[in-house]
Amino acid sequence: MRETSWAPSEERAKPKTAPDAATLLAWYDVSARVLPWRVRGSAKPDPYRVWLSEIMLQQTRVETVLPYFAKFLARWPDLISLANARQEEVLSAWAGLGYYARARNLHACARTVSAEYSGRFPEDEAELRRLPGIGAYTAAAISAIAFGRKATPVDGNIERVMSRLFAVEEKLPAAKKALARLAAEMTPAHRAGDFAQALMDLGATICTPKNPACTICPWMESCAARVRGDQQTFPRKIAKAEGRLRKGAAFVVIREDGHILLRTRADKGLLASMTEVPGSEWSADYRASTKAAPLANMAAPLANIKWLKAAETVRHVFTHFPLELTVYTAQAPARTKAPKGMRFVQLRALGDEALPSVMRKVIAHALEFGGKQKSKGRAKK
Ligand code: ADE
Repeated sequence: MRETSWAPSEERAKPKTAPDAATLLAWYDVSARVLPWRVRGSAKPDPYRVWLSEIMLQQTRVETVLPYFAKFLARWPDLISLANARQEEVLSAWAGLGYYARARNLHACARTVSAEYSGRFPEDEAELRRLPGIGAYTAAAISAIAFGRKATPVDGNIERVMSRLFAVEEKLPAAKKALARLAAEMTPAHRAGDFAQALMDLGATICTPKNPACTICPWMESCAARVRGDQQTFPRKIAKAEGRLRKGAAFVVIREDGHILLRTRADKGLLASMTEVPGSEWSADYRASTKAAPLANMAAPLANIKWLKAAETVRHVFTHFPLELTVYTAQAPARTKAPKGMRFVQLRALGDEALPSVMRKVIAHALEFGGKQKSKGRAKK
């Protein structure tokens, strides 16, 4: 039968050769990305660096991680120094990387390995998984990359590679098990860590979600989806509902002597223990006031302050919902006292605060807006 686009999959063109680990490893030997936690040839990787990189790389791109990895290593060159750091220092060095539970777990993990494992990470996946912040993916990655154990980390990138390589029709998330099994079956006993990192590199640089660069892929000939010509339609997925938009208000008070009003979030839940400007609840039915002072939470000594509402809102996307914040700014006289539970911090000391990205955006927006207001010489409500 002639090949047609609507032919059932069993009648479609099939690759002549099966994909194998050796082909990918040969590609990795010449094309691996040079990354500071990796070693080449027979050198032994440092488990501390591998662990630190894997925690930072959870849900975060390599380019974003690189400067943070360098900063952490310069400040805490080994596990013991990190274990001895204060939690606030670690959170503030982490600020901007997002998903802050990772920073708290990182620190807790360093302390556990230091106290209970004499400062040496366990090599076994199951034992690694007992440590704070180490789930199935990270345990497999550390076991394979740092210790050369036969383990297969499988994340969204590797699922995509497998789904294309074997043209897996089952939809995610149900297909996760099958995709993980395919990756595990291909993993070689020797160089399992290189194999894992080769899959990561392939997923990040060639087998990308859109416009995969199949012509330079080491597995081009043996990729079932590529041979059929519908590689970009994999992996199959069931449609997922996005979190509902939440809204809220953020209040930026700048004191005339260059201080900003801040507080610390609760130690549980989203952005736990991080620094923020005061604000409202974030909810789907929040309505920004059209008047300038929607500030039930701004008790004395800031009760009579004059508020300006920034024209544009600040948007931020968390994993489970998008957020839109209306930003109110106000100037307070020097020496104004902070309301209970809040504190004034020098603007130039903001770098020492554990400020999440959304709060950096809010403050930058407020400062820019405040500057515009001044230069126009009028205040808009
Ligand atoms: N993503 C997660 N772990 C990684 C690693 N070791 N190298 C590159 N990308 C990664």
